Amino acid sequence: MGIFGMPKKSLLLLFIFCELAGSNKIAVPDKSASPKLSSCRRCKILTDSFKHWLDKTSRGKYEGGDAAWEETKLKSYSRSEIRLTEIQEGLCSEVKLHQDACYAIAEEAEQVLEKWWFHQDPGSEDLYTWLCIETLKECCPSKHFGNECAPCPLNESNEVCSGHGRCDGAGTRQGNGTCICKKGYSGELCEDCAKNFYKTKVGSCDKCDKSCNGCSGGDDSSCISCNTGWQLQSGVCVDVNECETSICTSKQYCINTDGSYSCQECETSCLTCSGEGPANCTSCDPDTVLWFGMCVSPDQKQKNVTETYKRIAQYVGLLTIVMYMAQKSTIFASIVAVFIAIVIVYLEKTTLRNSSIDVTMQILQEFYSQHQ
Ligand SMILES: *[C@@H]1O[C@H](CO)[C@@H](O)[C@H](O)[C@H]1NC(C)=O
Ligand SMILES: *[C@@H]1O[C@H](CO)[C@@H](O)[C@H](O)[C@H]1NC(C)=O
Ligand SMILES: *[C@@H]1O[C@H](CO)[C@@H](O)[C@H](O)[C@H]1NC(C)=O
Ligand SMILES: *[C@@H]1O[C@H](CO)[C@@H](O)[C@H](O)[C@H]1NC(C)=O
Repeated sequence: MGIFGMPKKSLLLLFIFCELAGSNKIAVPDKSASPKLSSCRRCKILTDSFKHWLDKTSRGKYEGGDAAWEETKLKSYSRSEIRLTEIQEGLCSEVKLHQDACYAIAEEAEQVLEKWWFHQDPGSEDLYTWLCIETLKECCPSKHFGNECAPCPLNESNEVCSGHGRCDGAGTRQGNGTCICKKGYSGELCEDCAKNFYKTKVGSCDKCDKSCNGCSGGDDSSCISCNTGWQLQSGVCVDVNECETSICTSKQYCINTDGSYSCQECETSCLTCSGEGPANCTSCDPDTVLWFGMCVSPDQKQKNVTETYKRIAQYVGLLTIVMYMAQKSTIFASIVAVFIAIVIVYLEKTTLRNSSIDVTMQILQEFYSQHQ
């Protein structure tokens, strides 16, 4: 026991919880430097916002009047200080995700943006390339990565990672340029199929059948070898039925599944069983008896036997009445007999768990085996 009578474990948990809560508090105020946002993404957000406001201010505030005058006015407006101020006032205000980061970089890059605005030829390059790639050196051109913007690995047809993966750090000044292959592909250039995948005619990699351990095609006859839980039988990997050998404990029953099996606990009323529920018992504890798959008390069994006898007696009684009626009117007796037969069959089949015939057979069988 620790302080305040709390067990040591809870104190430890409390301590860990406080630690986590504490570190959280430190991380929260620093919103602008969200660790997930790369500096390249940040720059992209800024240039996107800049383009947005460039678009918004493209018509300027000059409306109506002399067309020629308007044109010259627009021309002088297009790269004017007025327009830049308008853009900078709006900058980042429309950004929904990472707005704080946008404001931060907008402030950092204010003078560089002015330089671009007044000194770069408007048609020469887009802002992203000039600002993020060339000036701030936060990003790389697409298909390039890392500090030096080295080219990503290409296959002989100039496809990055053979088109089956992405190049680590592509488009940013980060990463090491290794191919991170999509599921099913492997190799330095993602040109090979991963384990348990095979190359299709069109050059993509598809998953092998679940029965295979390596394959040359998609079906269960194209396996190179069989997966665990399957075995080769006339060229095909077939499921091994593990339940055929008794691998579960005696108080469990076995369920065979594709490539595997599971052991489930028997219902508590059973000693051993062959399936789920209280009606799949195969043997019982000494104080109960097996009765149609259920372990019941001897009293319960006797009650069921007695009930069945009563039922049979009722049927015999009805038969007697029908035979008596048949002496008076054969047709009427036949109708009644058919009606009674339907009712009996209906009751026996649907409402009674064990039919009279089953119970009778069971009793005869028990009697026979006892007197052998
Ligand atoms: C390069 O990758 C592309 C896309 O997967 C593929 O079509 C092409 O055949 C590959 N080139 C070579 C030479 O492997
Ligand atoms: C490249 O970086 C990834 C993580 O992004 C890492 O798993 C891998 O080992 C690195 N490869 C090399 C060659 O450094
Ligand atoms: C006996 O077990 C099998 C398999 O678990 C199950 O499908 C069946 O419904 C069970 N029978 C009864 C009467 O519960
Ligand atoms: C025995 O009879 C009772 C009452 O009719 C019934 O609920 C129960 O299912 C029967 N038990 C068996 C094992 O047939």
